[in-house]
Amino acid sequence: MTGTNIHIAASFLKSGNVVAIPTETVYGLAANAYDPDAVLRIFEIKQRPRFNPLIVHLSSINQLGRVAEKTDPVLLQLAYHFWPGPLTILVKKSALIADLVTAGSEFVAVRVPNHPLTLKLLSLIDFPLAAPSANEFGKISPTTAKHVEESLGNKINYILDGGSSVVGIESTIIKMDAGKIVILRPGGINAEQISEITGYVPQLAEASNQAEAPGMLKSHYAPTIPLYLGKIDELISVHAGKKIGILAFTEQRQDASIIFQKILSPSGDLHEAAKNLFSYLHQLEQSGAELIISELLPETGIGIAVNDRLRRASA
Ligand code: TXA
Ligand code: MG
Repeated sequence: MTGTNIHIAASFLKSGNVVAIPTETVYGLAANAYDPDAVLRIFEIKQRPRFNPLIVHLSSINQLGRVAEKTDPVLLQLAYHFWPGPLTILVKKSALIADLVTAGSEFVAVRVPNHPLTLKLLSLIDFPLAAPSANEFGKISPTTAKHVEESLGNKINYILDGGSSVVGIESTIIKMDAGKIVILRPGGINAEQISEITGYVPQLAEASNQAEAPGMLKSHYAPTIPLYLGKIDELISVHAGKKIGILAFTEQRQDASIIFQKILSPSGDLHEAAKNLFSYLHQLEQSGAELIISELLPETGIGIAVNDRLRRASA
């Protein structure tokens, strides 16, 4: 069932069930982070490998002490500045957090999501919510309740509908490593914003296919049809005669092979492009096109996070 009733959502969560929740980044598949059985259900529904840990969502920074044994002061400073918002920090976990949540790691990833409905929901319950994105493992992330319904609707009791996610791309995940800030996944908060607050220049962790860096799996966010990344006009000639879907940054193309086309931001606004990315990929996937042709955005600001998702989608 899909609806906007936080009391229904809260009662399912209190009884150990999984509920889809809206956030400003993407929809999450949430359960009580203190309850291993409830968390296990998330992994089953999502068909997610157990080695891939979950982000824990708090109602406010005041809850941090319950889930964290220790927090690096630099990360705490960033949390004060950007929460609620699309920044996830890694902190030494407290015993309350189920081991399944962190896949055995002593660090737990936490954030306070910036969505009015979900913040109200979090204030109705006395436990934090473990929640990965509410899509099947490896598929395109959901930015509307309808996306969740289409992929997981028959497996969950309740989808809390909070409209379209306004950021549209997942949170930035950071940790401290030997006195440096490392970005494990680029997202809604960019490196310059982190530098401005802390004076540190963050480093980007490298993508790999190893289980030790689960959030960084190269092939992820994959549409069910191939996605080719490069110069759009050249790729159109290479694939001429096939049913082509185009995902362009600003500019519309004309070609007999194009059967569906989406423009991420006609005015060249990177935030608008990020907000539209997953929703347009969902539409392209369902358009009847045999393949998707797309291009990278300028490698700056949130464009870095969008390009990261496009590269993974094309891997
Ligand atoms: O914006 C977001 O972060 C969304 C919303 C729902 O909050 N969540 C999200 O979750 O994107 P998910 O599971 O799709 O991606 C979380 C990533 C995973 O790839 C995981 O590897 C990494 O965070 N992660 C979680 N806990 C971690 C930990 N303890 N250590 C290292 N990486 C962790
Ligand atoms: Mg995900």
